[in-house]
Amino acid sequence: MLLASSPLELRRQIKAWKQAGETIAFVPTMGNLHSGHISLVTEAKKHASKVVVSIFVNPLQFNNPDDLTNYPRTLEEDSAQLISEGVDLLFTPTPDIMYPKGLEAQTFVEVPNITDVFCGESRPGHFRGVSTIVNKLFNLVAPDVACFGMKDYQQLQVIKLMVEDLSLDIKVIGVETVRTEHGLAKSSRNGYLSQQELDVAPLLYRTMKLIETHVCSGVEIDDAVEQAKAFLASTPLTTDYLHVQRADNLSSPNNDDKKLVILAAAYLGSARLIDNLVFER
Ligand code: PAF
Repeated sequence: MLLASSPLELRRQIKAWKQAGETIAFVPTMGNLHSGHISLVTEAKKHASKVVVSIFVNPLQFNNPDDLTNYPRTLEEDSAQLISEGVDLLFTPTPDIMYPKGLEAQTFVEVPNITDVFCGESRPGHFRGVSTIVNKLFNLVAPDVACFGMKDYQQLQVIKLMVEDLSLDIKVIGVETVRTEHGLAKSSRNGYLSQQELDVAPLLYRTMKLIETHVCSGVEIDDAVEQAKAFLASTPLTTDYLHVQRADNLSSPNNDDKKLVILAAAYLGSARLIDNLVFER
């Protein structure tokens, strides 16, 4: 696996590959890799002859300084995993390289409307940080396709909109969420959970499955969500938000909408878990 930590090294290699007729699939990550990330790499391999992964804990998307400081950084283990997955190049820039003028002086990419709600409401500025870094990484890697996890459903929609609005020639692929046998979505933040918390965390997914069952059997969406919130209130999970929206653009559904997504975020101990469930009624 080739390593690059500067834009110059990265661009040289990308240029050489493109001249040789190779195609490029890109998997941007913040490291601390788990089986969810590996499934992105597996998918990426199906779409191009070369796979590039980036590991960059992006300060611009953290609105809480402690969260940024405590974010797990496990570069050695991560690169070993990527080597065994056959990744072609790992890009590991530092904040100084990505934001040489500092965060305050950085030009932003801002996707309107859908970034103000759900995770955007709980984490102001988060999606602006995500779209800015993903755009910069897209400009550096110049991939043909890029893979993102569906666990971060809102993030995936934000990136698809950015690609469309800025006319980027990149195919964005959403990859199914990987779950533990009890249904907990794999996430780097699960590492913040104690064993006791890990035992109750799957209740979030189970609650979403319950909403799906109720809505599919004709219960009004609002009633199903209220029941689910009442149930969660009786557990150690503290709901941040729980909504059922249209799956294609996250707007509020009407009675005719068939393809829906349940979007959920909840606090458990020191972790904030997010999850979602796409379904048809
Ligand atoms: O999903 C993530 O890990 C990050 O938000 C991303 C897409 C790598 C941008 O920093």
